[in-house]
Amino acid sequence: MFPTHRPRRLRASPAIRDMVRETHLRADDFIYPLFVQEGATKPEAIAAMPGQFRHGIDSLKKEAEAAAEAGVKGLLLFGIPKVKDEAGSGAFAEDGIVQQAVRALKEESLPLSIITDVCMCEYTSHGHCGAIRNQDVDNDPSLQMLAQTALSQAQAGADIVAPSDMMDGRVGIIRAVLDDNGFENVVILSYAAKFASAFYGPFREAAGSAPQFGDRHSYQMDPANRREALKEVFADIEEGADMVMVKPALAYLDIIREVKDSTDVPVAAYNVSGEYAMIEFAAKAGAIDRDRIIAETLLSIKRAGADLILTYYALEMARRLGKS
Ligand code: PBG
Repeated sequence: MFPTHRPRRLRASPAIRDMVRETHLRADDFIYPLFVQEGATKPEAIAAMPGQFRHGIDSLKKEAEAAAEAGVKGLLLFGIPKVKDEAGSGAFAEDGIVQQAVRALKEESLPLSIITDVCMCEYTSHGHCGAIRNQDVDNDPSLQMLAQTALSQAQAGADIVAPSDMMDGRVGIIRAVLDDNGFENVVILSYAAKFASAFYGPFREAAGSAPQFGDRHSYQMDPANRREALKEVFADIEEGADMVMVKPALAYLDIIREVKDSTDVPVAAYNVSGEYAMIEFAAKAGAIDRDRIIAETLLSIKRAGADLILTYYALEMARRLGKS
């Protein structure tokens, strides 16, 4: 009989499609990145990321409550300080904006993990992710700044610290400093394979963190490299990373799969600001079916192997899943 195979049998009705579906999105998959701005009294819209805001502490709390209510299990906080300086001192100040935000959120005892981004670029006047020497980021002095930042975030109550700077050796030193100070249970989610990507453009507008000279190619990875991504991932796991991240997600789905198949730790993927902006602006132009594109995009990242997805759609998608 021809055709020998009839795969369409398993697509004939919603019921059978539901039965054989291989990948499912759940609210638990999502981590919600949020911006918090020092001194802000009301949320300020981010032009390059329609629907996202620079929050003050009050609106941050409300957004966190909504996320918890919808079943999201993690928030990732980015701070925007009032003043940036050469040393990025706002990153590790005891009363820094992220430290204040973490304390405020921990008071709420929400059923979700508070994750802090460990990096210098939002806090330095030059917009680079560490200390500068000869117009480049100097690796080893930067490690001290990063470790101090992670420690101050843990002291404020962060459950998970997420170094996103791409300096060599940061995971090891952060683990050691946390352990030495009694924070051996604080989790490290490392941005292990973070590529030097144009997809971070809208984020840099949001956080005012674009480099004032040069670019990030001497520390973030070359988008052309797959095997090097594994080298970075293995190094971070060996240094103590509990979870690893691939970033961005969509142009790097092959890397997500590779990392998933090669490791035994949870793998996260970051559906970054440029990926978000492309959907939002294409939808505003009437070119795409926004809601279906969002679901298909997130599903593709999960199918590629991500256990966790950092996405600005976390709250919206968790709500949608809850209703379905
Ligand atoms: C900080 C950091 C960046 C992002 C997350 N952490 C920006 C960068 O590396 O320039 C980007 C997130 C996004 O684009 O959504 N280093």
